[in-house]
Amino acid sequence: MKPPHRAAKASIKSWKNSLPQKTIRVLRQFKTVLFGSKPLPDFAQPLLQRFVRPLLPPRIIIISLTYDCQANCKHCGVVTSEKQAQELTTLEVMEIIDQVAVMGTGTIYFSGGEPLLRRDFARLVRAAVDRRCRVQFDTNGLLLDGDLARQLKACNGEILVGVSLDSPERQAHDRHRGVEGIFDAALSAIEHCVCEEIPVDISYYLTRDAFARGELEDTIRLGRELSVDGVRIITPALSGRLIERHDLAFLPQEELELMKRLKAEEGFAFLEHRDVYTNHRCPSFDMELIYISPYGDIQPCIYVPTTFGNLREEPLTSILKRMWRDRIFKGENVQCLAHCNRPFRSSWRAPGPWRP
Ligand SMILES: C[S@@+](CC[C@H](N)C(=O)[O-])C[C@H]1O[C@@H](n2cnc3c(N)ncnc32)[C@H](O)[C@@H]1O
Ligand code: SF4
Repeated sequence: MKPPHRAAKASIKSWKNSLPQKTIRVLRQFKTVLFGSKPLPDFAQPLLQRFVRPLLPPRIIIISLTYDCQANCKHCGVVTSEKQAQELTTLEVMEIIDQVAVMGTGTIYFSGGEPLLRRDFARLVRAAVDRRCRVQFDTNGLLLDGDLARQLKACNGEILVGVSLDSPERQAHDRHRGVEGIFDAALSAIEHCVCEEIPVDISYYLTRDAFARGELEDTIRLGRELSVDGVRIITPALSGRLIERHDLAFLPQEELELMKRLKAEEGFAFLEHRDVYTNHRCPSFDMELIYISPYGDIQPCIYVPTTFGNLREEPLTSILKRMWRDRIFKGENVQCLAHCNRPFRSSWRAPGPWRP
């Protein structure tokens, strides 16, 4: 048992750590009391965005653990990201997890490349869980075996796994990802999670063509057969290999049809970043989400390779302060930075860093 002064110190520390989350909860309740579940009135949103939001931590922080990957997906949005020599070490990632937890962010989302290629993956998940963060990650499934599933279960935390499927059909998925057998690996990864009772979604990359062909129905059916918790639909992000593929972006009418179709699923199949579709608001622009590269660079989003500082040189809070003061976060255009915010998109695609 801890001596009383130690126990008191520990409880003050944990109270302090949870303060930002409490503040957010109070502000959300305040908003709900004033406006119900309706969107904020037009006059309030810019004021909130300008003066209140920067005081709060992002809701989700994506940490990319590596840009290495065994697959070669035709749609990969990160495959063209510049690789550097020295990925963040285990200690550096743990230090970042500490900063994230103290700041009050509730969810850490491990991504990549393929995050399971990191040998320390299970340790990092445990570190995040120990700091009371929810953990979410996506994987191509090749390395998620029974042993890893048991280690994840033993972390005893709130963990959500996303296993990627780009088609409910074996050959099409293998071909699209450039690896024979990756479809079966994904299915077996899902089974290991289900067997250990770890919440697991299918992360389904859905194109306009596949939607028109009715492939969504087959994927939802497969998800139900596999007893997954949900089918998270990701539509093409025009980044990496898809940077010039404007033809792949869903048209407004198709978005509406997709939303209508998903209503019938009552949450089982759902769109990632629903706000991007329903309210045309970008979670990065709204300071709800940020991205940390495998080298510690801070970007607004995984698909926006513009760096605002590096965690090896500066603490997270001071980089965020600077980033959120940038003019892109003050503009009128609140739509997806990667897709629709054309002036921003053309500047980050120009050579050299984004210049405020
Ligand atoms: C970046 S990957 C990283 C994790 C892992 N390698 C995987 O494939 O699951 C995370 C998710 O983003 C999806 N994704 C990758 N590039 C994308 C793009 N350009 N547009 C939409 N989704 C994309 C993948 O299909 C995957 O479900
Ligand atoms: S989408 Fe994931 S699995 Fe496919 S190449 Fe990119 S990082 Fe690898």
